[in-house]
Amino acid sequence: MSISEITANELDVEKFIKDKAAGISEAVGNDTAINALSGGVDSSTVTLLGHMALDKKLKTYFIDNGLMRKDEPQEVVSIFSEMGVNVEIIDARQEFFAALKDIDDPEKKREAITQTFYKKVFGRLVKESGAKHLLQGTILTDVDETVAGIKRQHNVFEQLGIDPQETFGYKIIEPLLQLRKDGVRKVAEGLGLPEVIFNRPPFPGPALAARIIGAVTPEDVELVRHATVIMEEVFGDMDSFQNMAILHKDRVTGMRNGMREFGRQIEIRCWESTDARTATPMRVDYKTLFYLADRITKEVQGVVSVTYHIAEKPPSTMEVV
Ligand code: XMP
Repeated sequence: MSISEITANELDVEKFIKDKAAGISEAVGNDTAINALSGGVDSSTVTLLGHMALDKKLKTYFIDNGLMRKDEPQEVVSIFSEMGVNVEIIDARQEFFAALKDIDDPEKKREAITQTFYKKVFGRLVKESGAKHLLQGTILTDVDETVAGIKRQHNVFEQLGIDPQETFGYKIIEPLLQLRKDGVRKVAEGLGLPEVIFNRPPFPGPALAARIIGAVTPEDVELVRHATVIMEEVFGDMDSFQNMAILHKDRVTGMRNGMREFGRQIEIRCWESTDARTATPMRVDYKTLFYLADRITKEVQGVVSVTYHIAEKPPSTMEVV
């Protein structure tokens, strides 16, 4: 089934909100639904649309997979609590780390995350709550890239011929499927979400696992998480689409205090883009890059190299795995 795109330009936000809320309400009927909020603009928009349509018939969870940025679960939950939306944090850290153990291959990592998320964690939540539907914020770019075989986005099923009802035991409702990121931001603003949400830089479903080349361990997540905090502080008001710190698998020879240190390597990417289909590295000034490298090598234990990515998408992609 082909999806008819609604571009940000032609989007009538009010009508879209009204139509989609009615669609969700009709699809769920007298049943109940659940959804997972990550704090990104897509899942935040779906959360608010869903609560508008379903009120108490929707239960929202934040799945703490151990791969989120520093303090992210608590911060997101508190933003939504201020808007009157109650979100329960599910601690699934051990399950995700166990599923990712020793998996090196990017697509296998994505598959492990997908299975843990949809089959194990959601499967359990659906059973416990009696919900029949899962609401999620898949957008058109996720579908395009998955179908084209570029990257298996963790949230795409039907377009790959996977029936969620058969595979996971629940139906999936995807109200944002016709939009791209710029359209979703308009809907988010129209719904009254705060600017920290409607202008939030994208963050991928596989979270920091998408920013580690090779197998994911709790120690390496901590390392890339720390580098991400510093990168976000230094790039704070950068007018970019998305910034990221990536941990490489290879070690490189460095030196510290006159001694050899066979250390870790962080790659920084800072993208300009409107819809993530194509992207260009931002021309960040050297002073900022040098300051960032200085802080990362001094503050993140074991890192002796920091590089800046300068290839465009395509042929590059934005995330590294
Ligand atoms: P790529 O790396 O495909 O990224 O050029 C394009 C946009 O999609 C995000 N991304 C993902 N988002 N699940 C997601 O929800 C994924 O598996 C995934 N992979 C990439 C990426 O952060 C960028 O904004």
